[in-house]
Amino acid sequence: MKIFADTANIAEIKRINDLGLLDGVTTNPTIIAREGKDWETVEKEICAIVDGPVSAEVTADDTDEMVAQARELSAWADNIVVKIPMTEAGLKAVSILSKEGIKTNVTLVFSAVQGMLAAKAGATYVSPFLGRLDDIGASGLELVEKLRQIFDVYGYQTEIIAASIRHCQHVEQVALAGCDIATIPGHLIPKLWEHPLTDKGLATFKKDWAEFERLQQK
Ligand code: E4P
Repeated sequence: MKIFADTANIAEIKRINDLGLLDGVTTNPTIIAREGKDWETVEKEICAIVDGPVSAEVTADDTDEMVAQARELSAWADNIVVKIPMTEAGLKAVSILSKEGIKTNVTLVFSAVQGMLAAKAGATYVSPFLGRLDDIGASGLELVEKLRQIFDVYGYQTEIIAASIRHCQHVEQVALAGCDIATIPGHLIPKLWEHPLTDKGLATFKKDWAEFERLQQK
């Protein structure tokens, strides 16, 4: 499964990228606003670091404006993917953009049928939001499982990005469900490799080795 960073924080992106683990980045208006920098500058900086798709989200509401903005965003860098909201205007924009060869990521997907429509419209990616569904007592994982099933049955090439990931278990669950990608908040990614038993085991190895060396010197 591919790992994307759901952040626009350059330090977080560099940290994961330096490990060779980063396959892409996703941003949205909230994530960009959090950094407090110029939008275009930040997206271009991210695109120069990451050897993979970087999603930048349109802020327009109607199809014509979304399409115009998408053309502008996709000119910022070769690896820009345009994020389009799951609305009627958004679906229409995705149809137009896919015919122009502009890659799209349909965001704010909360039902399997929404995801299917996005795939039929020609979306490169769909982003089901796990955490926000879990928050209202529904199952984000179930949505990913349904999308996987529908896309496999009908042979849709659209890749599924598990979004709104809240904890490490989400990552494990979507990997088991055959999800193509998980986009994970930057602060959560280090938690994927950390484990208290690894730290404890390492401390024991170090202590035992130091004792062994001490005895050897006698
Ligand atoms: C997806 O691309 C979105 O940026 C993101 O995953 C939203 O997550 P949130 O529910 O934590 O805001």
